[in-house]
Amino acid sequence: MQIITTKAELERSIQACKMKGQTIGLVPTMGALHEGHASLVRRCVSENDVTVVSVFVNPTQFNNKEDLAKYPRSLERDAALLETIGASFVFAPAPEEMYTAKEMNETFTFDFGGLDSMMEGAMRPGHFNGVVQVVSRLFYLVQPDRAYFGEKDYQQLAIIHFMAERSELAGTFGNLQIIGCPIVRESSGLALSSRNERLSAEEKQTALAISKTLFASLEWAKEPNASVQAVQQRVIDTINAVEGLEVEYYQIVDQTSLLPTDTFKHAIGCVTVYCGPVRLIDNIKY
Ligand code: PAF
Repeated sequence: MQIITTKAELERSIQACKMKGQTIGLVPTMGALHEGHASLVRRCVSENDVTVVSVFVNPTQFNNKEDLAKYPRSLERDAALLETIGASFVFAPAPEEMYTAKEMNETFTFDFGGLDSMMEGAMRPGHFNGVVQVVSRLFYLVQPDRAYFGEKDYQQLAIIHFMAERSELAGTFGNLQIIGCPIVRESSGLALSSRNERLSAEEKQTALAISKTLFASLEWAKEPNASVQAVQQRVIDTINAVEGLEVEYYQIVDQTSLLPTDTFKHAIGCVTVYCGPVRLIDNIKY
């Protein structure tokens, strides 16, 4: 496994693989890798000749400077894990390698066909523009056949699908396939997240109420006369009743359009909860 820090070296290495006719898979990450990332990388290794994992805490997708500063960074540990899984290249550039000073500060605006108007898009203005800015750049550099993303960031996955298929960027990435992979959970039910590293042992225990409530809501949805509105509110009230947790939003939406829905068919519930100062997200399909 090779660790690459410059775009020029990455492009040279990719070119060499393409010349050999090798298929290329990409797993974009911000590092602080856990078993959820490992599951994406394993799948990528099993489906492609070459696996590129990017480890880059992308400054342009953080609308909160403190969140960016506190984001865990652990390249050495990440690289050791990726080597055991069989990644071919780790691309770990510095922010200045990815962006000019102007790009770092300029507000990029992409049209996501409304997919960014609710939930994370509404709470974190500019977040998805920053995500697409970095992901599209990675797609240009790596020219992957397949790219792998976790379903925990469900809205992000929907927006990346849109970008690769329907936006003004469509067609630029050849036959790129975007592959969504299921959420990986601890045996307790807690969705794995790099942000969990910032939870104290007590907060981690408190955070279990999030997934527990989401799973309970699958049963509430089956109750006679259950309405989406009522289940949505019950999830919010149940989580907010736990000391130390505060729901930012819980929305049950259509799995494709992400628009509010009044039926549980093809619906997904997406939640963001503050556990102390740590912002956690999770979701459940009905
Ligand atoms: O999901 C993430 O970790 C990030 O948003 C991504 C896709 C790596 C872009 O920085």
